[in-house]
Order: sequence, then structure tokens, then C-alpha cells
Amino acid sequence: MCGIVGYIGHREAWPIVIKGLKRLEYRGYDSAGIALISDEGLKIYKKAGKVTELENFAAGKNLSGTAGIGHTRWATHGAPSDRNSHPHTSNNGKLTIIHNGIIENYATLKEELKTRGHEFKSDTDTEVLVHLIEEIYKNEKIDLLEAVRLALREINGAYAIVLMDEEHPDQLIAARKGSPMVIGVGDGEYFIASDATPIVEYTKNVIYMNDNEIAFIKRDELLIKRLDNVVQTPYVQELELKLEMLEKGGYEHFMLKEIFEQSRSIRDCMRGRIYPNEGKVQLGGIKEYADKLKNIDRIIIVACGTSWHAGLVGEYLIEEYARIPVEVEYASEFRYRNPIITEKDIVIAISQSGETADTMAAIEMAKERGATIFGVCNVVGASIPRLTHAGVYTHAGPEIGVASTKAFTAQVTVLTLMAFYMAQQKGTLTNSKLVELLTELDCIPDKIQVALESNDLIKEIAGKFKDSRNCLFLGRGSGFPVALEGALKLKEISYIHAEGYPAAEMKHGPIALIDEEMPVVVIATKNSSYEKVISNIQEVKARKGIVLAIVTEGDTEVRKMVDYCIEIPDASEAFLPLLATIPLQLLSYHIAVLRGCNVDQPRNLAKSVTVE
Ligand code: M6R
Repeated sequence: MCGIVGYIGHREAWPIVIKGLKRLEYRGYDSAGIALISDEGLKIYKKAGKVTELENFAAGKNLSGTAGIGHTRWATHGAPSDRNSHPHTSNNGKLTIIHNGIIENYATLKEELKTRGHEFKSDTDTEVLVHLIEEIYKNEKIDLLEAVRLALREINGAYAIVLMDEEHPDQLIAARKGSPMVIGVGDGEYFIASDATPIVEYTKNVIYMNDNEIAFIKRDELLIKRLDNVVQTPYVQELELKLEMLEKGGYEHFMLKEIFEQSRSIRDCMRGRIYPNEGKVQLGGIKEYADKLKNIDRIIIVACGTSWHAGLVGEYLIEEYARIPVEVEYASEFRYRNPIITEKDIVIAISQSGETADTMAAIEMAKERGATIFGVCNVVGASIPRLTHAGVYTHAGPEIGVASTKAFTAQVTVLTLMAFYMAQQKGTLTNSKLVELLTELDCIPDKIQVALESNDLIKEIAGKFKDSRNCLFLGRGSGFPVALEGALKLKEISYIHAEGYPAAEMKHGPIALIDEEMPVVVIATKNSSYEKVISNIQEVKARKGIVLAIVTEGDTEVRKMVDYCIEIPDASEAFLPLLATIPLQLLSYHIAVLRGCNVDQPRNLAKSVTVE
């Protein structure tokens, strides 16, 4: 987690860095800090809390300098406090660093450095790194770039760092391993950031640094080398990102904007990939593996959080349509088991950010054991798409709200396309069935728009549920992952305890929780388990539970027996998760707003979980 920004050029650095930190705040908001270099030397401002608190703290102070680095923190080593905020400085105060990642061997290094007279001002692992660089720099009589390179070779763990030296105010040094880093190339200026969002308004030309690379950056010079000292030729690419994608566009919160974008994002995700009239799906990113897909015995899906829920929908779809057995694994569990993986397996890693540490470790392990890895990611150029053999981007556009919404429906859309693509390769669906399914899929964005029209009704219902302490979400078949996702959304942004359950499992335990104060949200749309779900609703009502049902439009049967109903357009079972998720996202959004919670930046969370 943590977001880092750097600038060196001819403009004032403070406004660029502070704005960049606001863009990266989704990565952590425990503290923020900025260091500036000018003729007057090094100045550091840092503060626990959000970027605006840093801004208020620094108001009226000397903020001049045309080189600067900034950091927004998600605390790992050391509590969120002023003293643990980045940037951190070396013993002599001349070197200053910002860091995203974890230095695993920091404790040993710290003890060794203490014996050499180093005194530490924070509890962070990061401070150890800047002291280590200083120690090597001082003792080896080498230039700073070489000292950083040698220090990084002693480090275990993950990092993206930017370093400034008061004695060389015309240079920045950046490096990455396991944590992302983008360099923006301007005219006589360079920008550095954890992702391209702080850069896009200044330049479209960017370089995504690779792992084990170190960059030496001056206003008119950029040198990138690997940690083994081999100089690299940087690959400059053009950003597709647009500035308006990063703004709220009139919505009160990014989450609400992102929920309302889903009709568009799903369409973008399908664009150029489906040919309904021909009954054909084209997925350029995995086409090289079309033959392999014909003969595979098994697919393993690895992911975390919401992406794992998308994986469960994928399991349902791939097994149903392509008849390939699928296992869905939490990346964090999978990586520490000793799973049986063979060269015949395909592992699909799903991640919005493309940076999740556990998912990356799971990929690495599966790769070492010979599996073919496909990625389903949203952030273009992130670490996971680079680690995988092939993949399909979700193209949902930047998702800034910490709670995943449009990324989830885009992941489900990609998995739907993958299921149909695999079915096409294996011949498990006839062409006429594919025509029928793809024609319906093509209409899903319009149906999402219709589902969004229930927003006012959902807001009203949210008012009735806002003071609940617990909530149960029930669904069957592909409605079960939707229930899990609904529960996760509610708990992460409103802090109401919520659980998702397969509806039939309720009577094996959770039914004991039901009383007249317990809201139970049930996915009760007209599909193969409709009658069974109705029985489950009866069981809840018999125990006086309050039922909110998500039903197919025009449904009268469920409406008669429940307390509240939200309709979604009719659709085949395959597309139910895409539609039924929408009201659940809106429900948790409105409940969180009514409870006065910070919807876009819920407590203790960060958008990219780059630590295990
Ligand atoms: O970036 P990823 O999709 O790999 O992230 C996985 C989870 O951290 C993420 O889905 C998390 O659960 C969200 N906060 C859920 O809204």
C-alpha cells in the first residue's frame, strides 16, 4: 500500500506533489508527508491523518522548491503518527526517502546500524533503509546511485522508493521491486508516482519501471539500470488515461460515480470482444492459448476480497458452459499450502489493482510449478499483468473508491466472456446457443441502467436498515457470490457486521441469529432455484426476520411475503450476478452515507493491498 509521488523540473514541486498525493490517497490515508529541496536546503512537512491535514499544517510555511517527494501511508511498521510518517531521513539528515512496501530484514539491519552509531527516530522499516544507504555511501566512497544499488541488494522484501540528497539537489533516485512505480517524462522535468494518476495532467509519456530497476533522474537526464548494474533502454509509452476519469464528475462520492458508470464500463469491457450475430467471442489476450484450452483438465482461480467473489461467479460460469472443473482459492491460503499444480493447469489470477501481494505470490508459486497463468486485471501495466503469461484487461477505468464496484462487474463480465470463449474452443455450446447468450449479454448494459433507476427506492430502504447491527445476505447458485459481495460491501463501508451465506446453509447455523431485528437480504430472482429460495424466505419470516428481496421485475409471489422488494430486469441465470449486484452496492452506499461514514476511504482499508 502507500502512495508515492516525486517531481523534479522547472515548476514548483509542492502543488504537483500534494495534488498527486490526493490522487493516491486511495492507497492509504494514515499519514502524509512531503520533502522539498531548494537553494535553502531540505524542508520536510509530515503529519498523521489525511493529505488535507498535511495541507493545513503546511499552510503559510515556506513551500518553495522545484524538486520534491511525497508519501501517503497505510501503516505497517509503526503506528500512524507524525514521527512514523514518511519521508524519513538518514542519521546526518541529508538523505531523505519515501517508501512503499516492506523491508523484511529491517530488524537485523537496524541492530547492526545501531552498533555503528545510528540513532532512529521512528519505528518504521523505511528509516532503516535510508540509514543503510547512508552507511554504505559514507564508507565505500562511491556515488549515491551506487550506494543505493548496493543497499538494495542487502534488502529482503518489497519496495518502491524515491530518495533525495540535500547535497545533490538536482537529482532524485528511484527504485522498485514488487511495488509499482511509473516515471512521467516531461520537457525538462520528470514525475514519479505509484500509478499514472498524479502524472496524467502533465504528460502522457510514461515509463513503467520493472522490478529490480533503479533510476537516476535529473531535470534533463534519465538513467535506468538493473540492480545487477546492466543499463536499460527505457520503454516510453503513451497513457490512455483521461483526466476526467479521475474526477467525481458531479457525484458526491467516487463510489457512487463508479456504481453509476457500470453500464458504460461493462460495455467498454465487451467492446470488440463479442460478435453476437456470429455467436463468437474474441479474446486477443489469450488467443495464443486457444488450443491449450481445448484440452485442459482444470482451472484454478486465485484472488482476494471482491475479486475472489468474482472468481466464484467465474467458477459457476466456466463449469456451466465450458464444462471445465474450476477451483477458486483465496490467494493468501493457496500460496502457503502445498497445492497440487501441474503443467496442464491454467491459473486465472483476478485483481483490480494488479498489485495485491498475496495474488502475486500465488502467481509466482503456480508459475514455478509449470502452470499457465492468465490475469484478469483492471490497472493497465500493473505488476500482475506483467507477471502472467497472458490475460484480459477489464477496462473498467480507474476505480478510486476503496470499495470495489465497477471493477467487480467488469471482472464478472470478463469471466463470462472467458467462459463463452472456452465453450467455443471446446465445442460445449452450439453456435445457436452462443448467438442467443451473446445477444442477451449485449443488452446487459441497458438492463444495468434500468437496475440503477431504483436508486431512490434503495435510499429509502437504506433509511430503515441504517441502525442495524447485523445483516445477513442469502443467495443460491450464482446468487451466492452476489450475497457474499453484498455483505462485504456493507461491512467495509458502513461497519455493520454482515455475512453472506448460501441460502440453504442458513438452517445449519445462521438461522439462530434471526429475530425481529435482523435484516436478511435475499437474492430471490426467477431462476432455477427460485422455489427453493422462496422456502428459505418463509423460514426467515417464520422467525420474524425482516426480509429485503432482490426480485425479477413483475414478481408478485415474493413481494407478498417480504418486507421490502427491489426489482431488477429479467435475465438468464448467467447474467444474474451482473444485475443483482447493483442494488446491493447502492444499498450499502446509502446506508454508509446515512451513518456518516467515509464512503470512499473506509477506516483501516486501502485500495491496493501490497502487503501480505
Ligand atoms: O486489487 P485486487 O482486486 O487484487 O484487491 C483485492 C481486494 O483487496 C479488494 O477486492 C477488496 O476486498 C475491496 N476493498 C473490496 O471492495
